[in-house]
Amino acid sequence: MVLDHRLFFPATQRNKIYIGDVLSNIPLKKGFVLEIGSGSGEHGVEFQKRFPEIIWQTSDPILEHRKSIISWIDYEELNMKMPRPLEIDVRKSPWPIPLKLIDALEVIISINMIHIAPWECTESFFRDSGKLLKDRKFLILYGPFKIEDKHTSESNELFDKSLKIQNNDWGVRNLEEVNKEAIINGFKQKQLIQMPANNLMLIYKKVSQ
Ligand SMILES: C[S@@+](CC[C@H](N)C(=O)[O-])C[C@H]1O[C@@H](n2cnc3c(N)ncnc32)[C@H](O)[C@@H]1O
Repeated sequence: MVLDHRLFFPATQRNKIYIGDVLSNIPLKKGFVLEIGSGSGEHGVEFQKRFPEIIWQTSDPILEHRKSIISWIDYEELNMKMPRPLEIDVRKSPWPIPLKLIDALEVIISINMIHIAPWECTESFFRDSGKLLKDRKFLILYGPFKIEDKHTSESNELFDKSLKIQNNDWGVRNLEEVNKEAIINGFKQKQLIQMPANNLMLIYKKVSQ
């Protein structure tokens, strides 16, 4: 008997269509997408089904999440297509990634991760992504952001407070500081897309140094 470890994240169910719509405008014809902080795995299976030309590689540092991802892959019968999740904590460099993935890496994406982790995770995320992605490849972030150090909505401000109560090192990040990390690691912002529920999707492209 196969145990069902699937987790269900309500926000993930709500935002997956909108995020998928944005991804559909990115040329994803082949190769790998590496997802950092995949959580339950609901995004991973959704996008693997929606973009069958690519291989969606999930990852998460938490065992319970990786078990959920495996269960979602089983449940959606994607075992022949999707690899098992990698154990990646962005702070532990270099990330344990198979060579064949590095050779064919098209996109690195992280959804709702950098505010639920200390700031050093944002720094490590950009630093290792900058080393892994070749020129013209994409780096994508999704989540709530402050702009010029101001919240863009009351709900984001409340959310930020609730994050800081859980862990003082967490918090909604300032867009300008995130962009600074992108630039120092060789990325140029291509697009900033307003998403439902006061979230942003940031699309960066690796540029020649
Ligand atoms: C709010 S959940 C979002 C999960 C998923 N991306 C989604 O949108 O449903 C944040 C995720 O970030 C992961 N995370 C936290 N710290 C991390 C780190 N240092 N490296 C990689 N992932 C991390 C957590 O394990 C968790 O799965």
